[in-house]
Order: sequence, then C-alpha cells, then structure tokens
Amino acid sequence: MSTIMDLVCWKDGRMQPLRDAGPSLLDLGFIHCDATYDVSLARGGKVFLFDDHESRFRGSAERFGLKLPPELDLLATSEKVLADNGLGGDALVWWMLWRGIPSTGNPRDIDSCPNHLVVYGKPMFNFAGGRNTATLLVDSKTTRAPDECWGQHFKNFAWIELTVAQRQAIAKGFDTAVIPDPNGYLTEGPGFNVAIVRNGAVSTPARNCLRGVTMVAVERLCERLAIPFRREDIPLGALTDCDEVFLTSTVGGVIPVPTVDGRTMPEHPVTTRLSEAYLQALENPAWYGRPVGPR
Ligand SMILES: Cc1ncc(COP(=O)(O)O)c(C=O)c1O
Repeated sequence: MSTIMDLVCWKDGRMQPLRDAGPSLLDLGFIHCDATYDVSLARGGKVFLFDDHESRFRGSAERFGLKLPPELDLLATSEKVLADNGLGGDALVWWMLWRGIPSTGNPRDIDSCPNHLVVYGKPMFNFAGGRNTATLLVDSKTTRAPDECWGQHFKNFAWIELTVAQRQAIAKGFDTAVIPDPNGYLTEGPGFNVAIVRNGAVSTPARNCLRGVTMVAVERLCERLAIPFRREDIPLGALTDCDEVFLTSTVGGVIPVPTVDGRTMPEHPVTTRLSEAYLQALENPAWYGRPVGPR
C-alpha cells in the first residue's frame, strides 16, 4: 500500500521521493530549529493566496539568515509538485528551508552550512477529529515566547510551548488550546490564530503571534462586509466574556469554537458570515496564484 512518504517532492533543484528528502541528525535545521517554512492551501492544482504566503516565507527566510535559490520560481515549482503527485483536489503545499550540516562539525560555524529547500504537497485534512470546529482550552500556565525573542510573525518551528499546551488540551478532553504572552494577553495556538467577536466587531491579537494568512484574508473580508476588525491586546478573560470565538488556519479556514474552557457558545452569526465569505473566496480564481487584478 502506498503511503504519504511515496509522494515525490522538489529538493534543491530536482524531483525526488519525499522519504529521502529529510534532514539528517546533524542538520542545524533539525537540532536547533534553524529553519523556516510556510504552508498554503491548494485546490485544482493552484495555490490559494500564493503571494501572501510567498512574501511571508521570503521575509522569514531573510529574518533567520536562510538563503533561497536566486532563480527559484516558487509558484511554478509548487504547481509542478501538485501535478506530479496528482494532487488536483484540496491539498496542502509545504515549503521548508533549513540550514544543513556545518562542514567543520562546529555548530557555531553557521556560514559553512548549505541551505536546503523542499517543496512538497499532501492531501488536505480536517482541523480536529474529522471536523472543522474545535473546543478550546485556555492554558494560562504556558507562555508564548514574545516578539522580543525573534518576532513571532516570522514563521518558525520553535513551538515547544504550543506542543505543551496541545498535550494539556488532549489530557483535559479539548481539541486544542490557546496560550498567553508573558503579560497575560492572548496569543495563538498550535497552528492557528484566534479571534473573538464582541458586539459585532472582530478582535485578534496584535502581537506575539504569527501573522496568519487566513486571518489577513478574514481582515479583507471584514472590510468588504463592513464588519469592524481590530488587532489589539486581548486579556485572556475576554475569551469567556464575548459573543463568539473563532480560529483561523490554512487547514480549516474559519473555524467556529463551540466551547471555551467548558463555556458553551452555540450561536456564531458573525463567524458564519465570515466562514461563508471565505468559502466563496475559495471558489474564486482571482484568489489563486499571483493576483492579476483586485481580489
Ligand atoms: C503558530 C501558528 N499560528 C497561526 C497559524 C495560522 O496561519 P495561516 O493562516 O497562515 O495558516 C499557523 C499556521 O500554521 C501557525 O503555525
């Protein structure tokens, strides 16, 4: 039986089996999280919001001093990987860039390391337990490393605090969790941004979290639908003192949260409007690839 590891990927300029493309035990990308990545949604072999993902990926590579091949056409490479694997349905496209093995064996000898880039695709899955909704634990005891460390808006694999929170969530019977920054303000969760809705207005954390492309899409949709949208500091307590909570992620899109810390929120009128608008955007060819006109 074929498995996901039988897919082919693009690595450092050539197509090869995904199973052979990974880092070794000596790669700094593996042992020091000296890496960046990005994940886009693809449908019909085309990449959704490609330009937003590409500019975040290139910005993160620059922040962490990782080099992309100068002649790289990320869009054409992504489309080739999707086509070569027959991924014409909903899929995820991953771009991974990391620092390899120092020729001297000295992990401080960063400039001697080759940089590696892999582009691969895999079939889409649902956000949690086969659903695109999620029950949420507020894990106030685990703290997200703040922007002052390296800038959480740059996409990175240094995620251990999010994994700790996810383990707490599973142990307590929730799908997933969100955590605060060192000052007690809401940040994000393992692989998603979070927003609350109060009196018809959407608020999402301004700091100490990834600048999620899906939340940027929600921001654009809010403008179109005349729904107020703010990026601001949100005290953790607001999560259980608001009208609606939703998550955003490339996997799952706009994800309603029916339960936060045991409090049930059965109605999601604003979230539903945004989710429907997002699903319409997914049907619109203008939201794919490089934009040729207004979206
Ligand atoms: C830590 C974190 N926050 C937020 C997100 C959501 O970002 P996007 O909407 O670009 O998928 C992700 C996605 O992987 C993530 O890893």
